[in-house]
Amino acid sequence: MTRRMLLALFSRIVAAASAVAALVPNVRFLADPLRRREETGPKRYRLARLAELPVGEPTPFVLRGRQVDAWKVYPSRILGQVWVIRDNDATDADHARLRVFSATCPHLGCTVNHDPEKRRFVCPCHAGVFTLDGEPVPSKELGYQNPVPRGMDPLKWSLVEDETGELWLEVEYVRFELGRPERVPVA
Ligand code: FES
Repeated sequence: MTRRMLLALFSRIVAAASAVAALVPNVRFLADPLRRREETGPKRYRLARLAELPVGEPTPFVLRGRQVDAWKVYPSRILGQVWVIRDNDATDADHARLRVFSATCPHLGCTVNHDPEKRRFVCPCHAGVFTLDGEPVPSKELGYQNPVPRGMDPLKWSLVEDETGELWLEVEYVRFELGRPERVPVA
């Protein structure tokens, strides 16, 4: 191989290496949403001290957090809302009883409100109505067809002790598919 051929080969190798190096940031950028996919799935939220929750009264909470949408990152977005009912005044984890529901209506996804006079959860969009146990109120009782396909979605919760010994309510937030009788988590 002549010196000229060797030089030509060398410059081709350098050019190829530079082209690959220039592509790396673009490939990483395009692949970013795929890498971030692992950030989805159930998320845990610390909502309140157990002792601060009123007994017997549904209490609403808004869940905020970081959201990644394709190539955009939103540092603090509303990711969901929940209703919490503390059923007794027990202040220890063994005896405390709570009910936690997603506030997303399982019909078409509006936010379910609480009607304190009727002691019902009500959906403003199509007049869906639920008991405080999250069950659909029978259509017969309502006098019209309750449009909801299932009850409100219950969420897993736990009481977690902090370093001072206080108990905090933590909730695992999951979204479920809308408009169907069975609960299917949104992937
Ligand atoms: S979205 Fe709630 S009743 Fe339709």
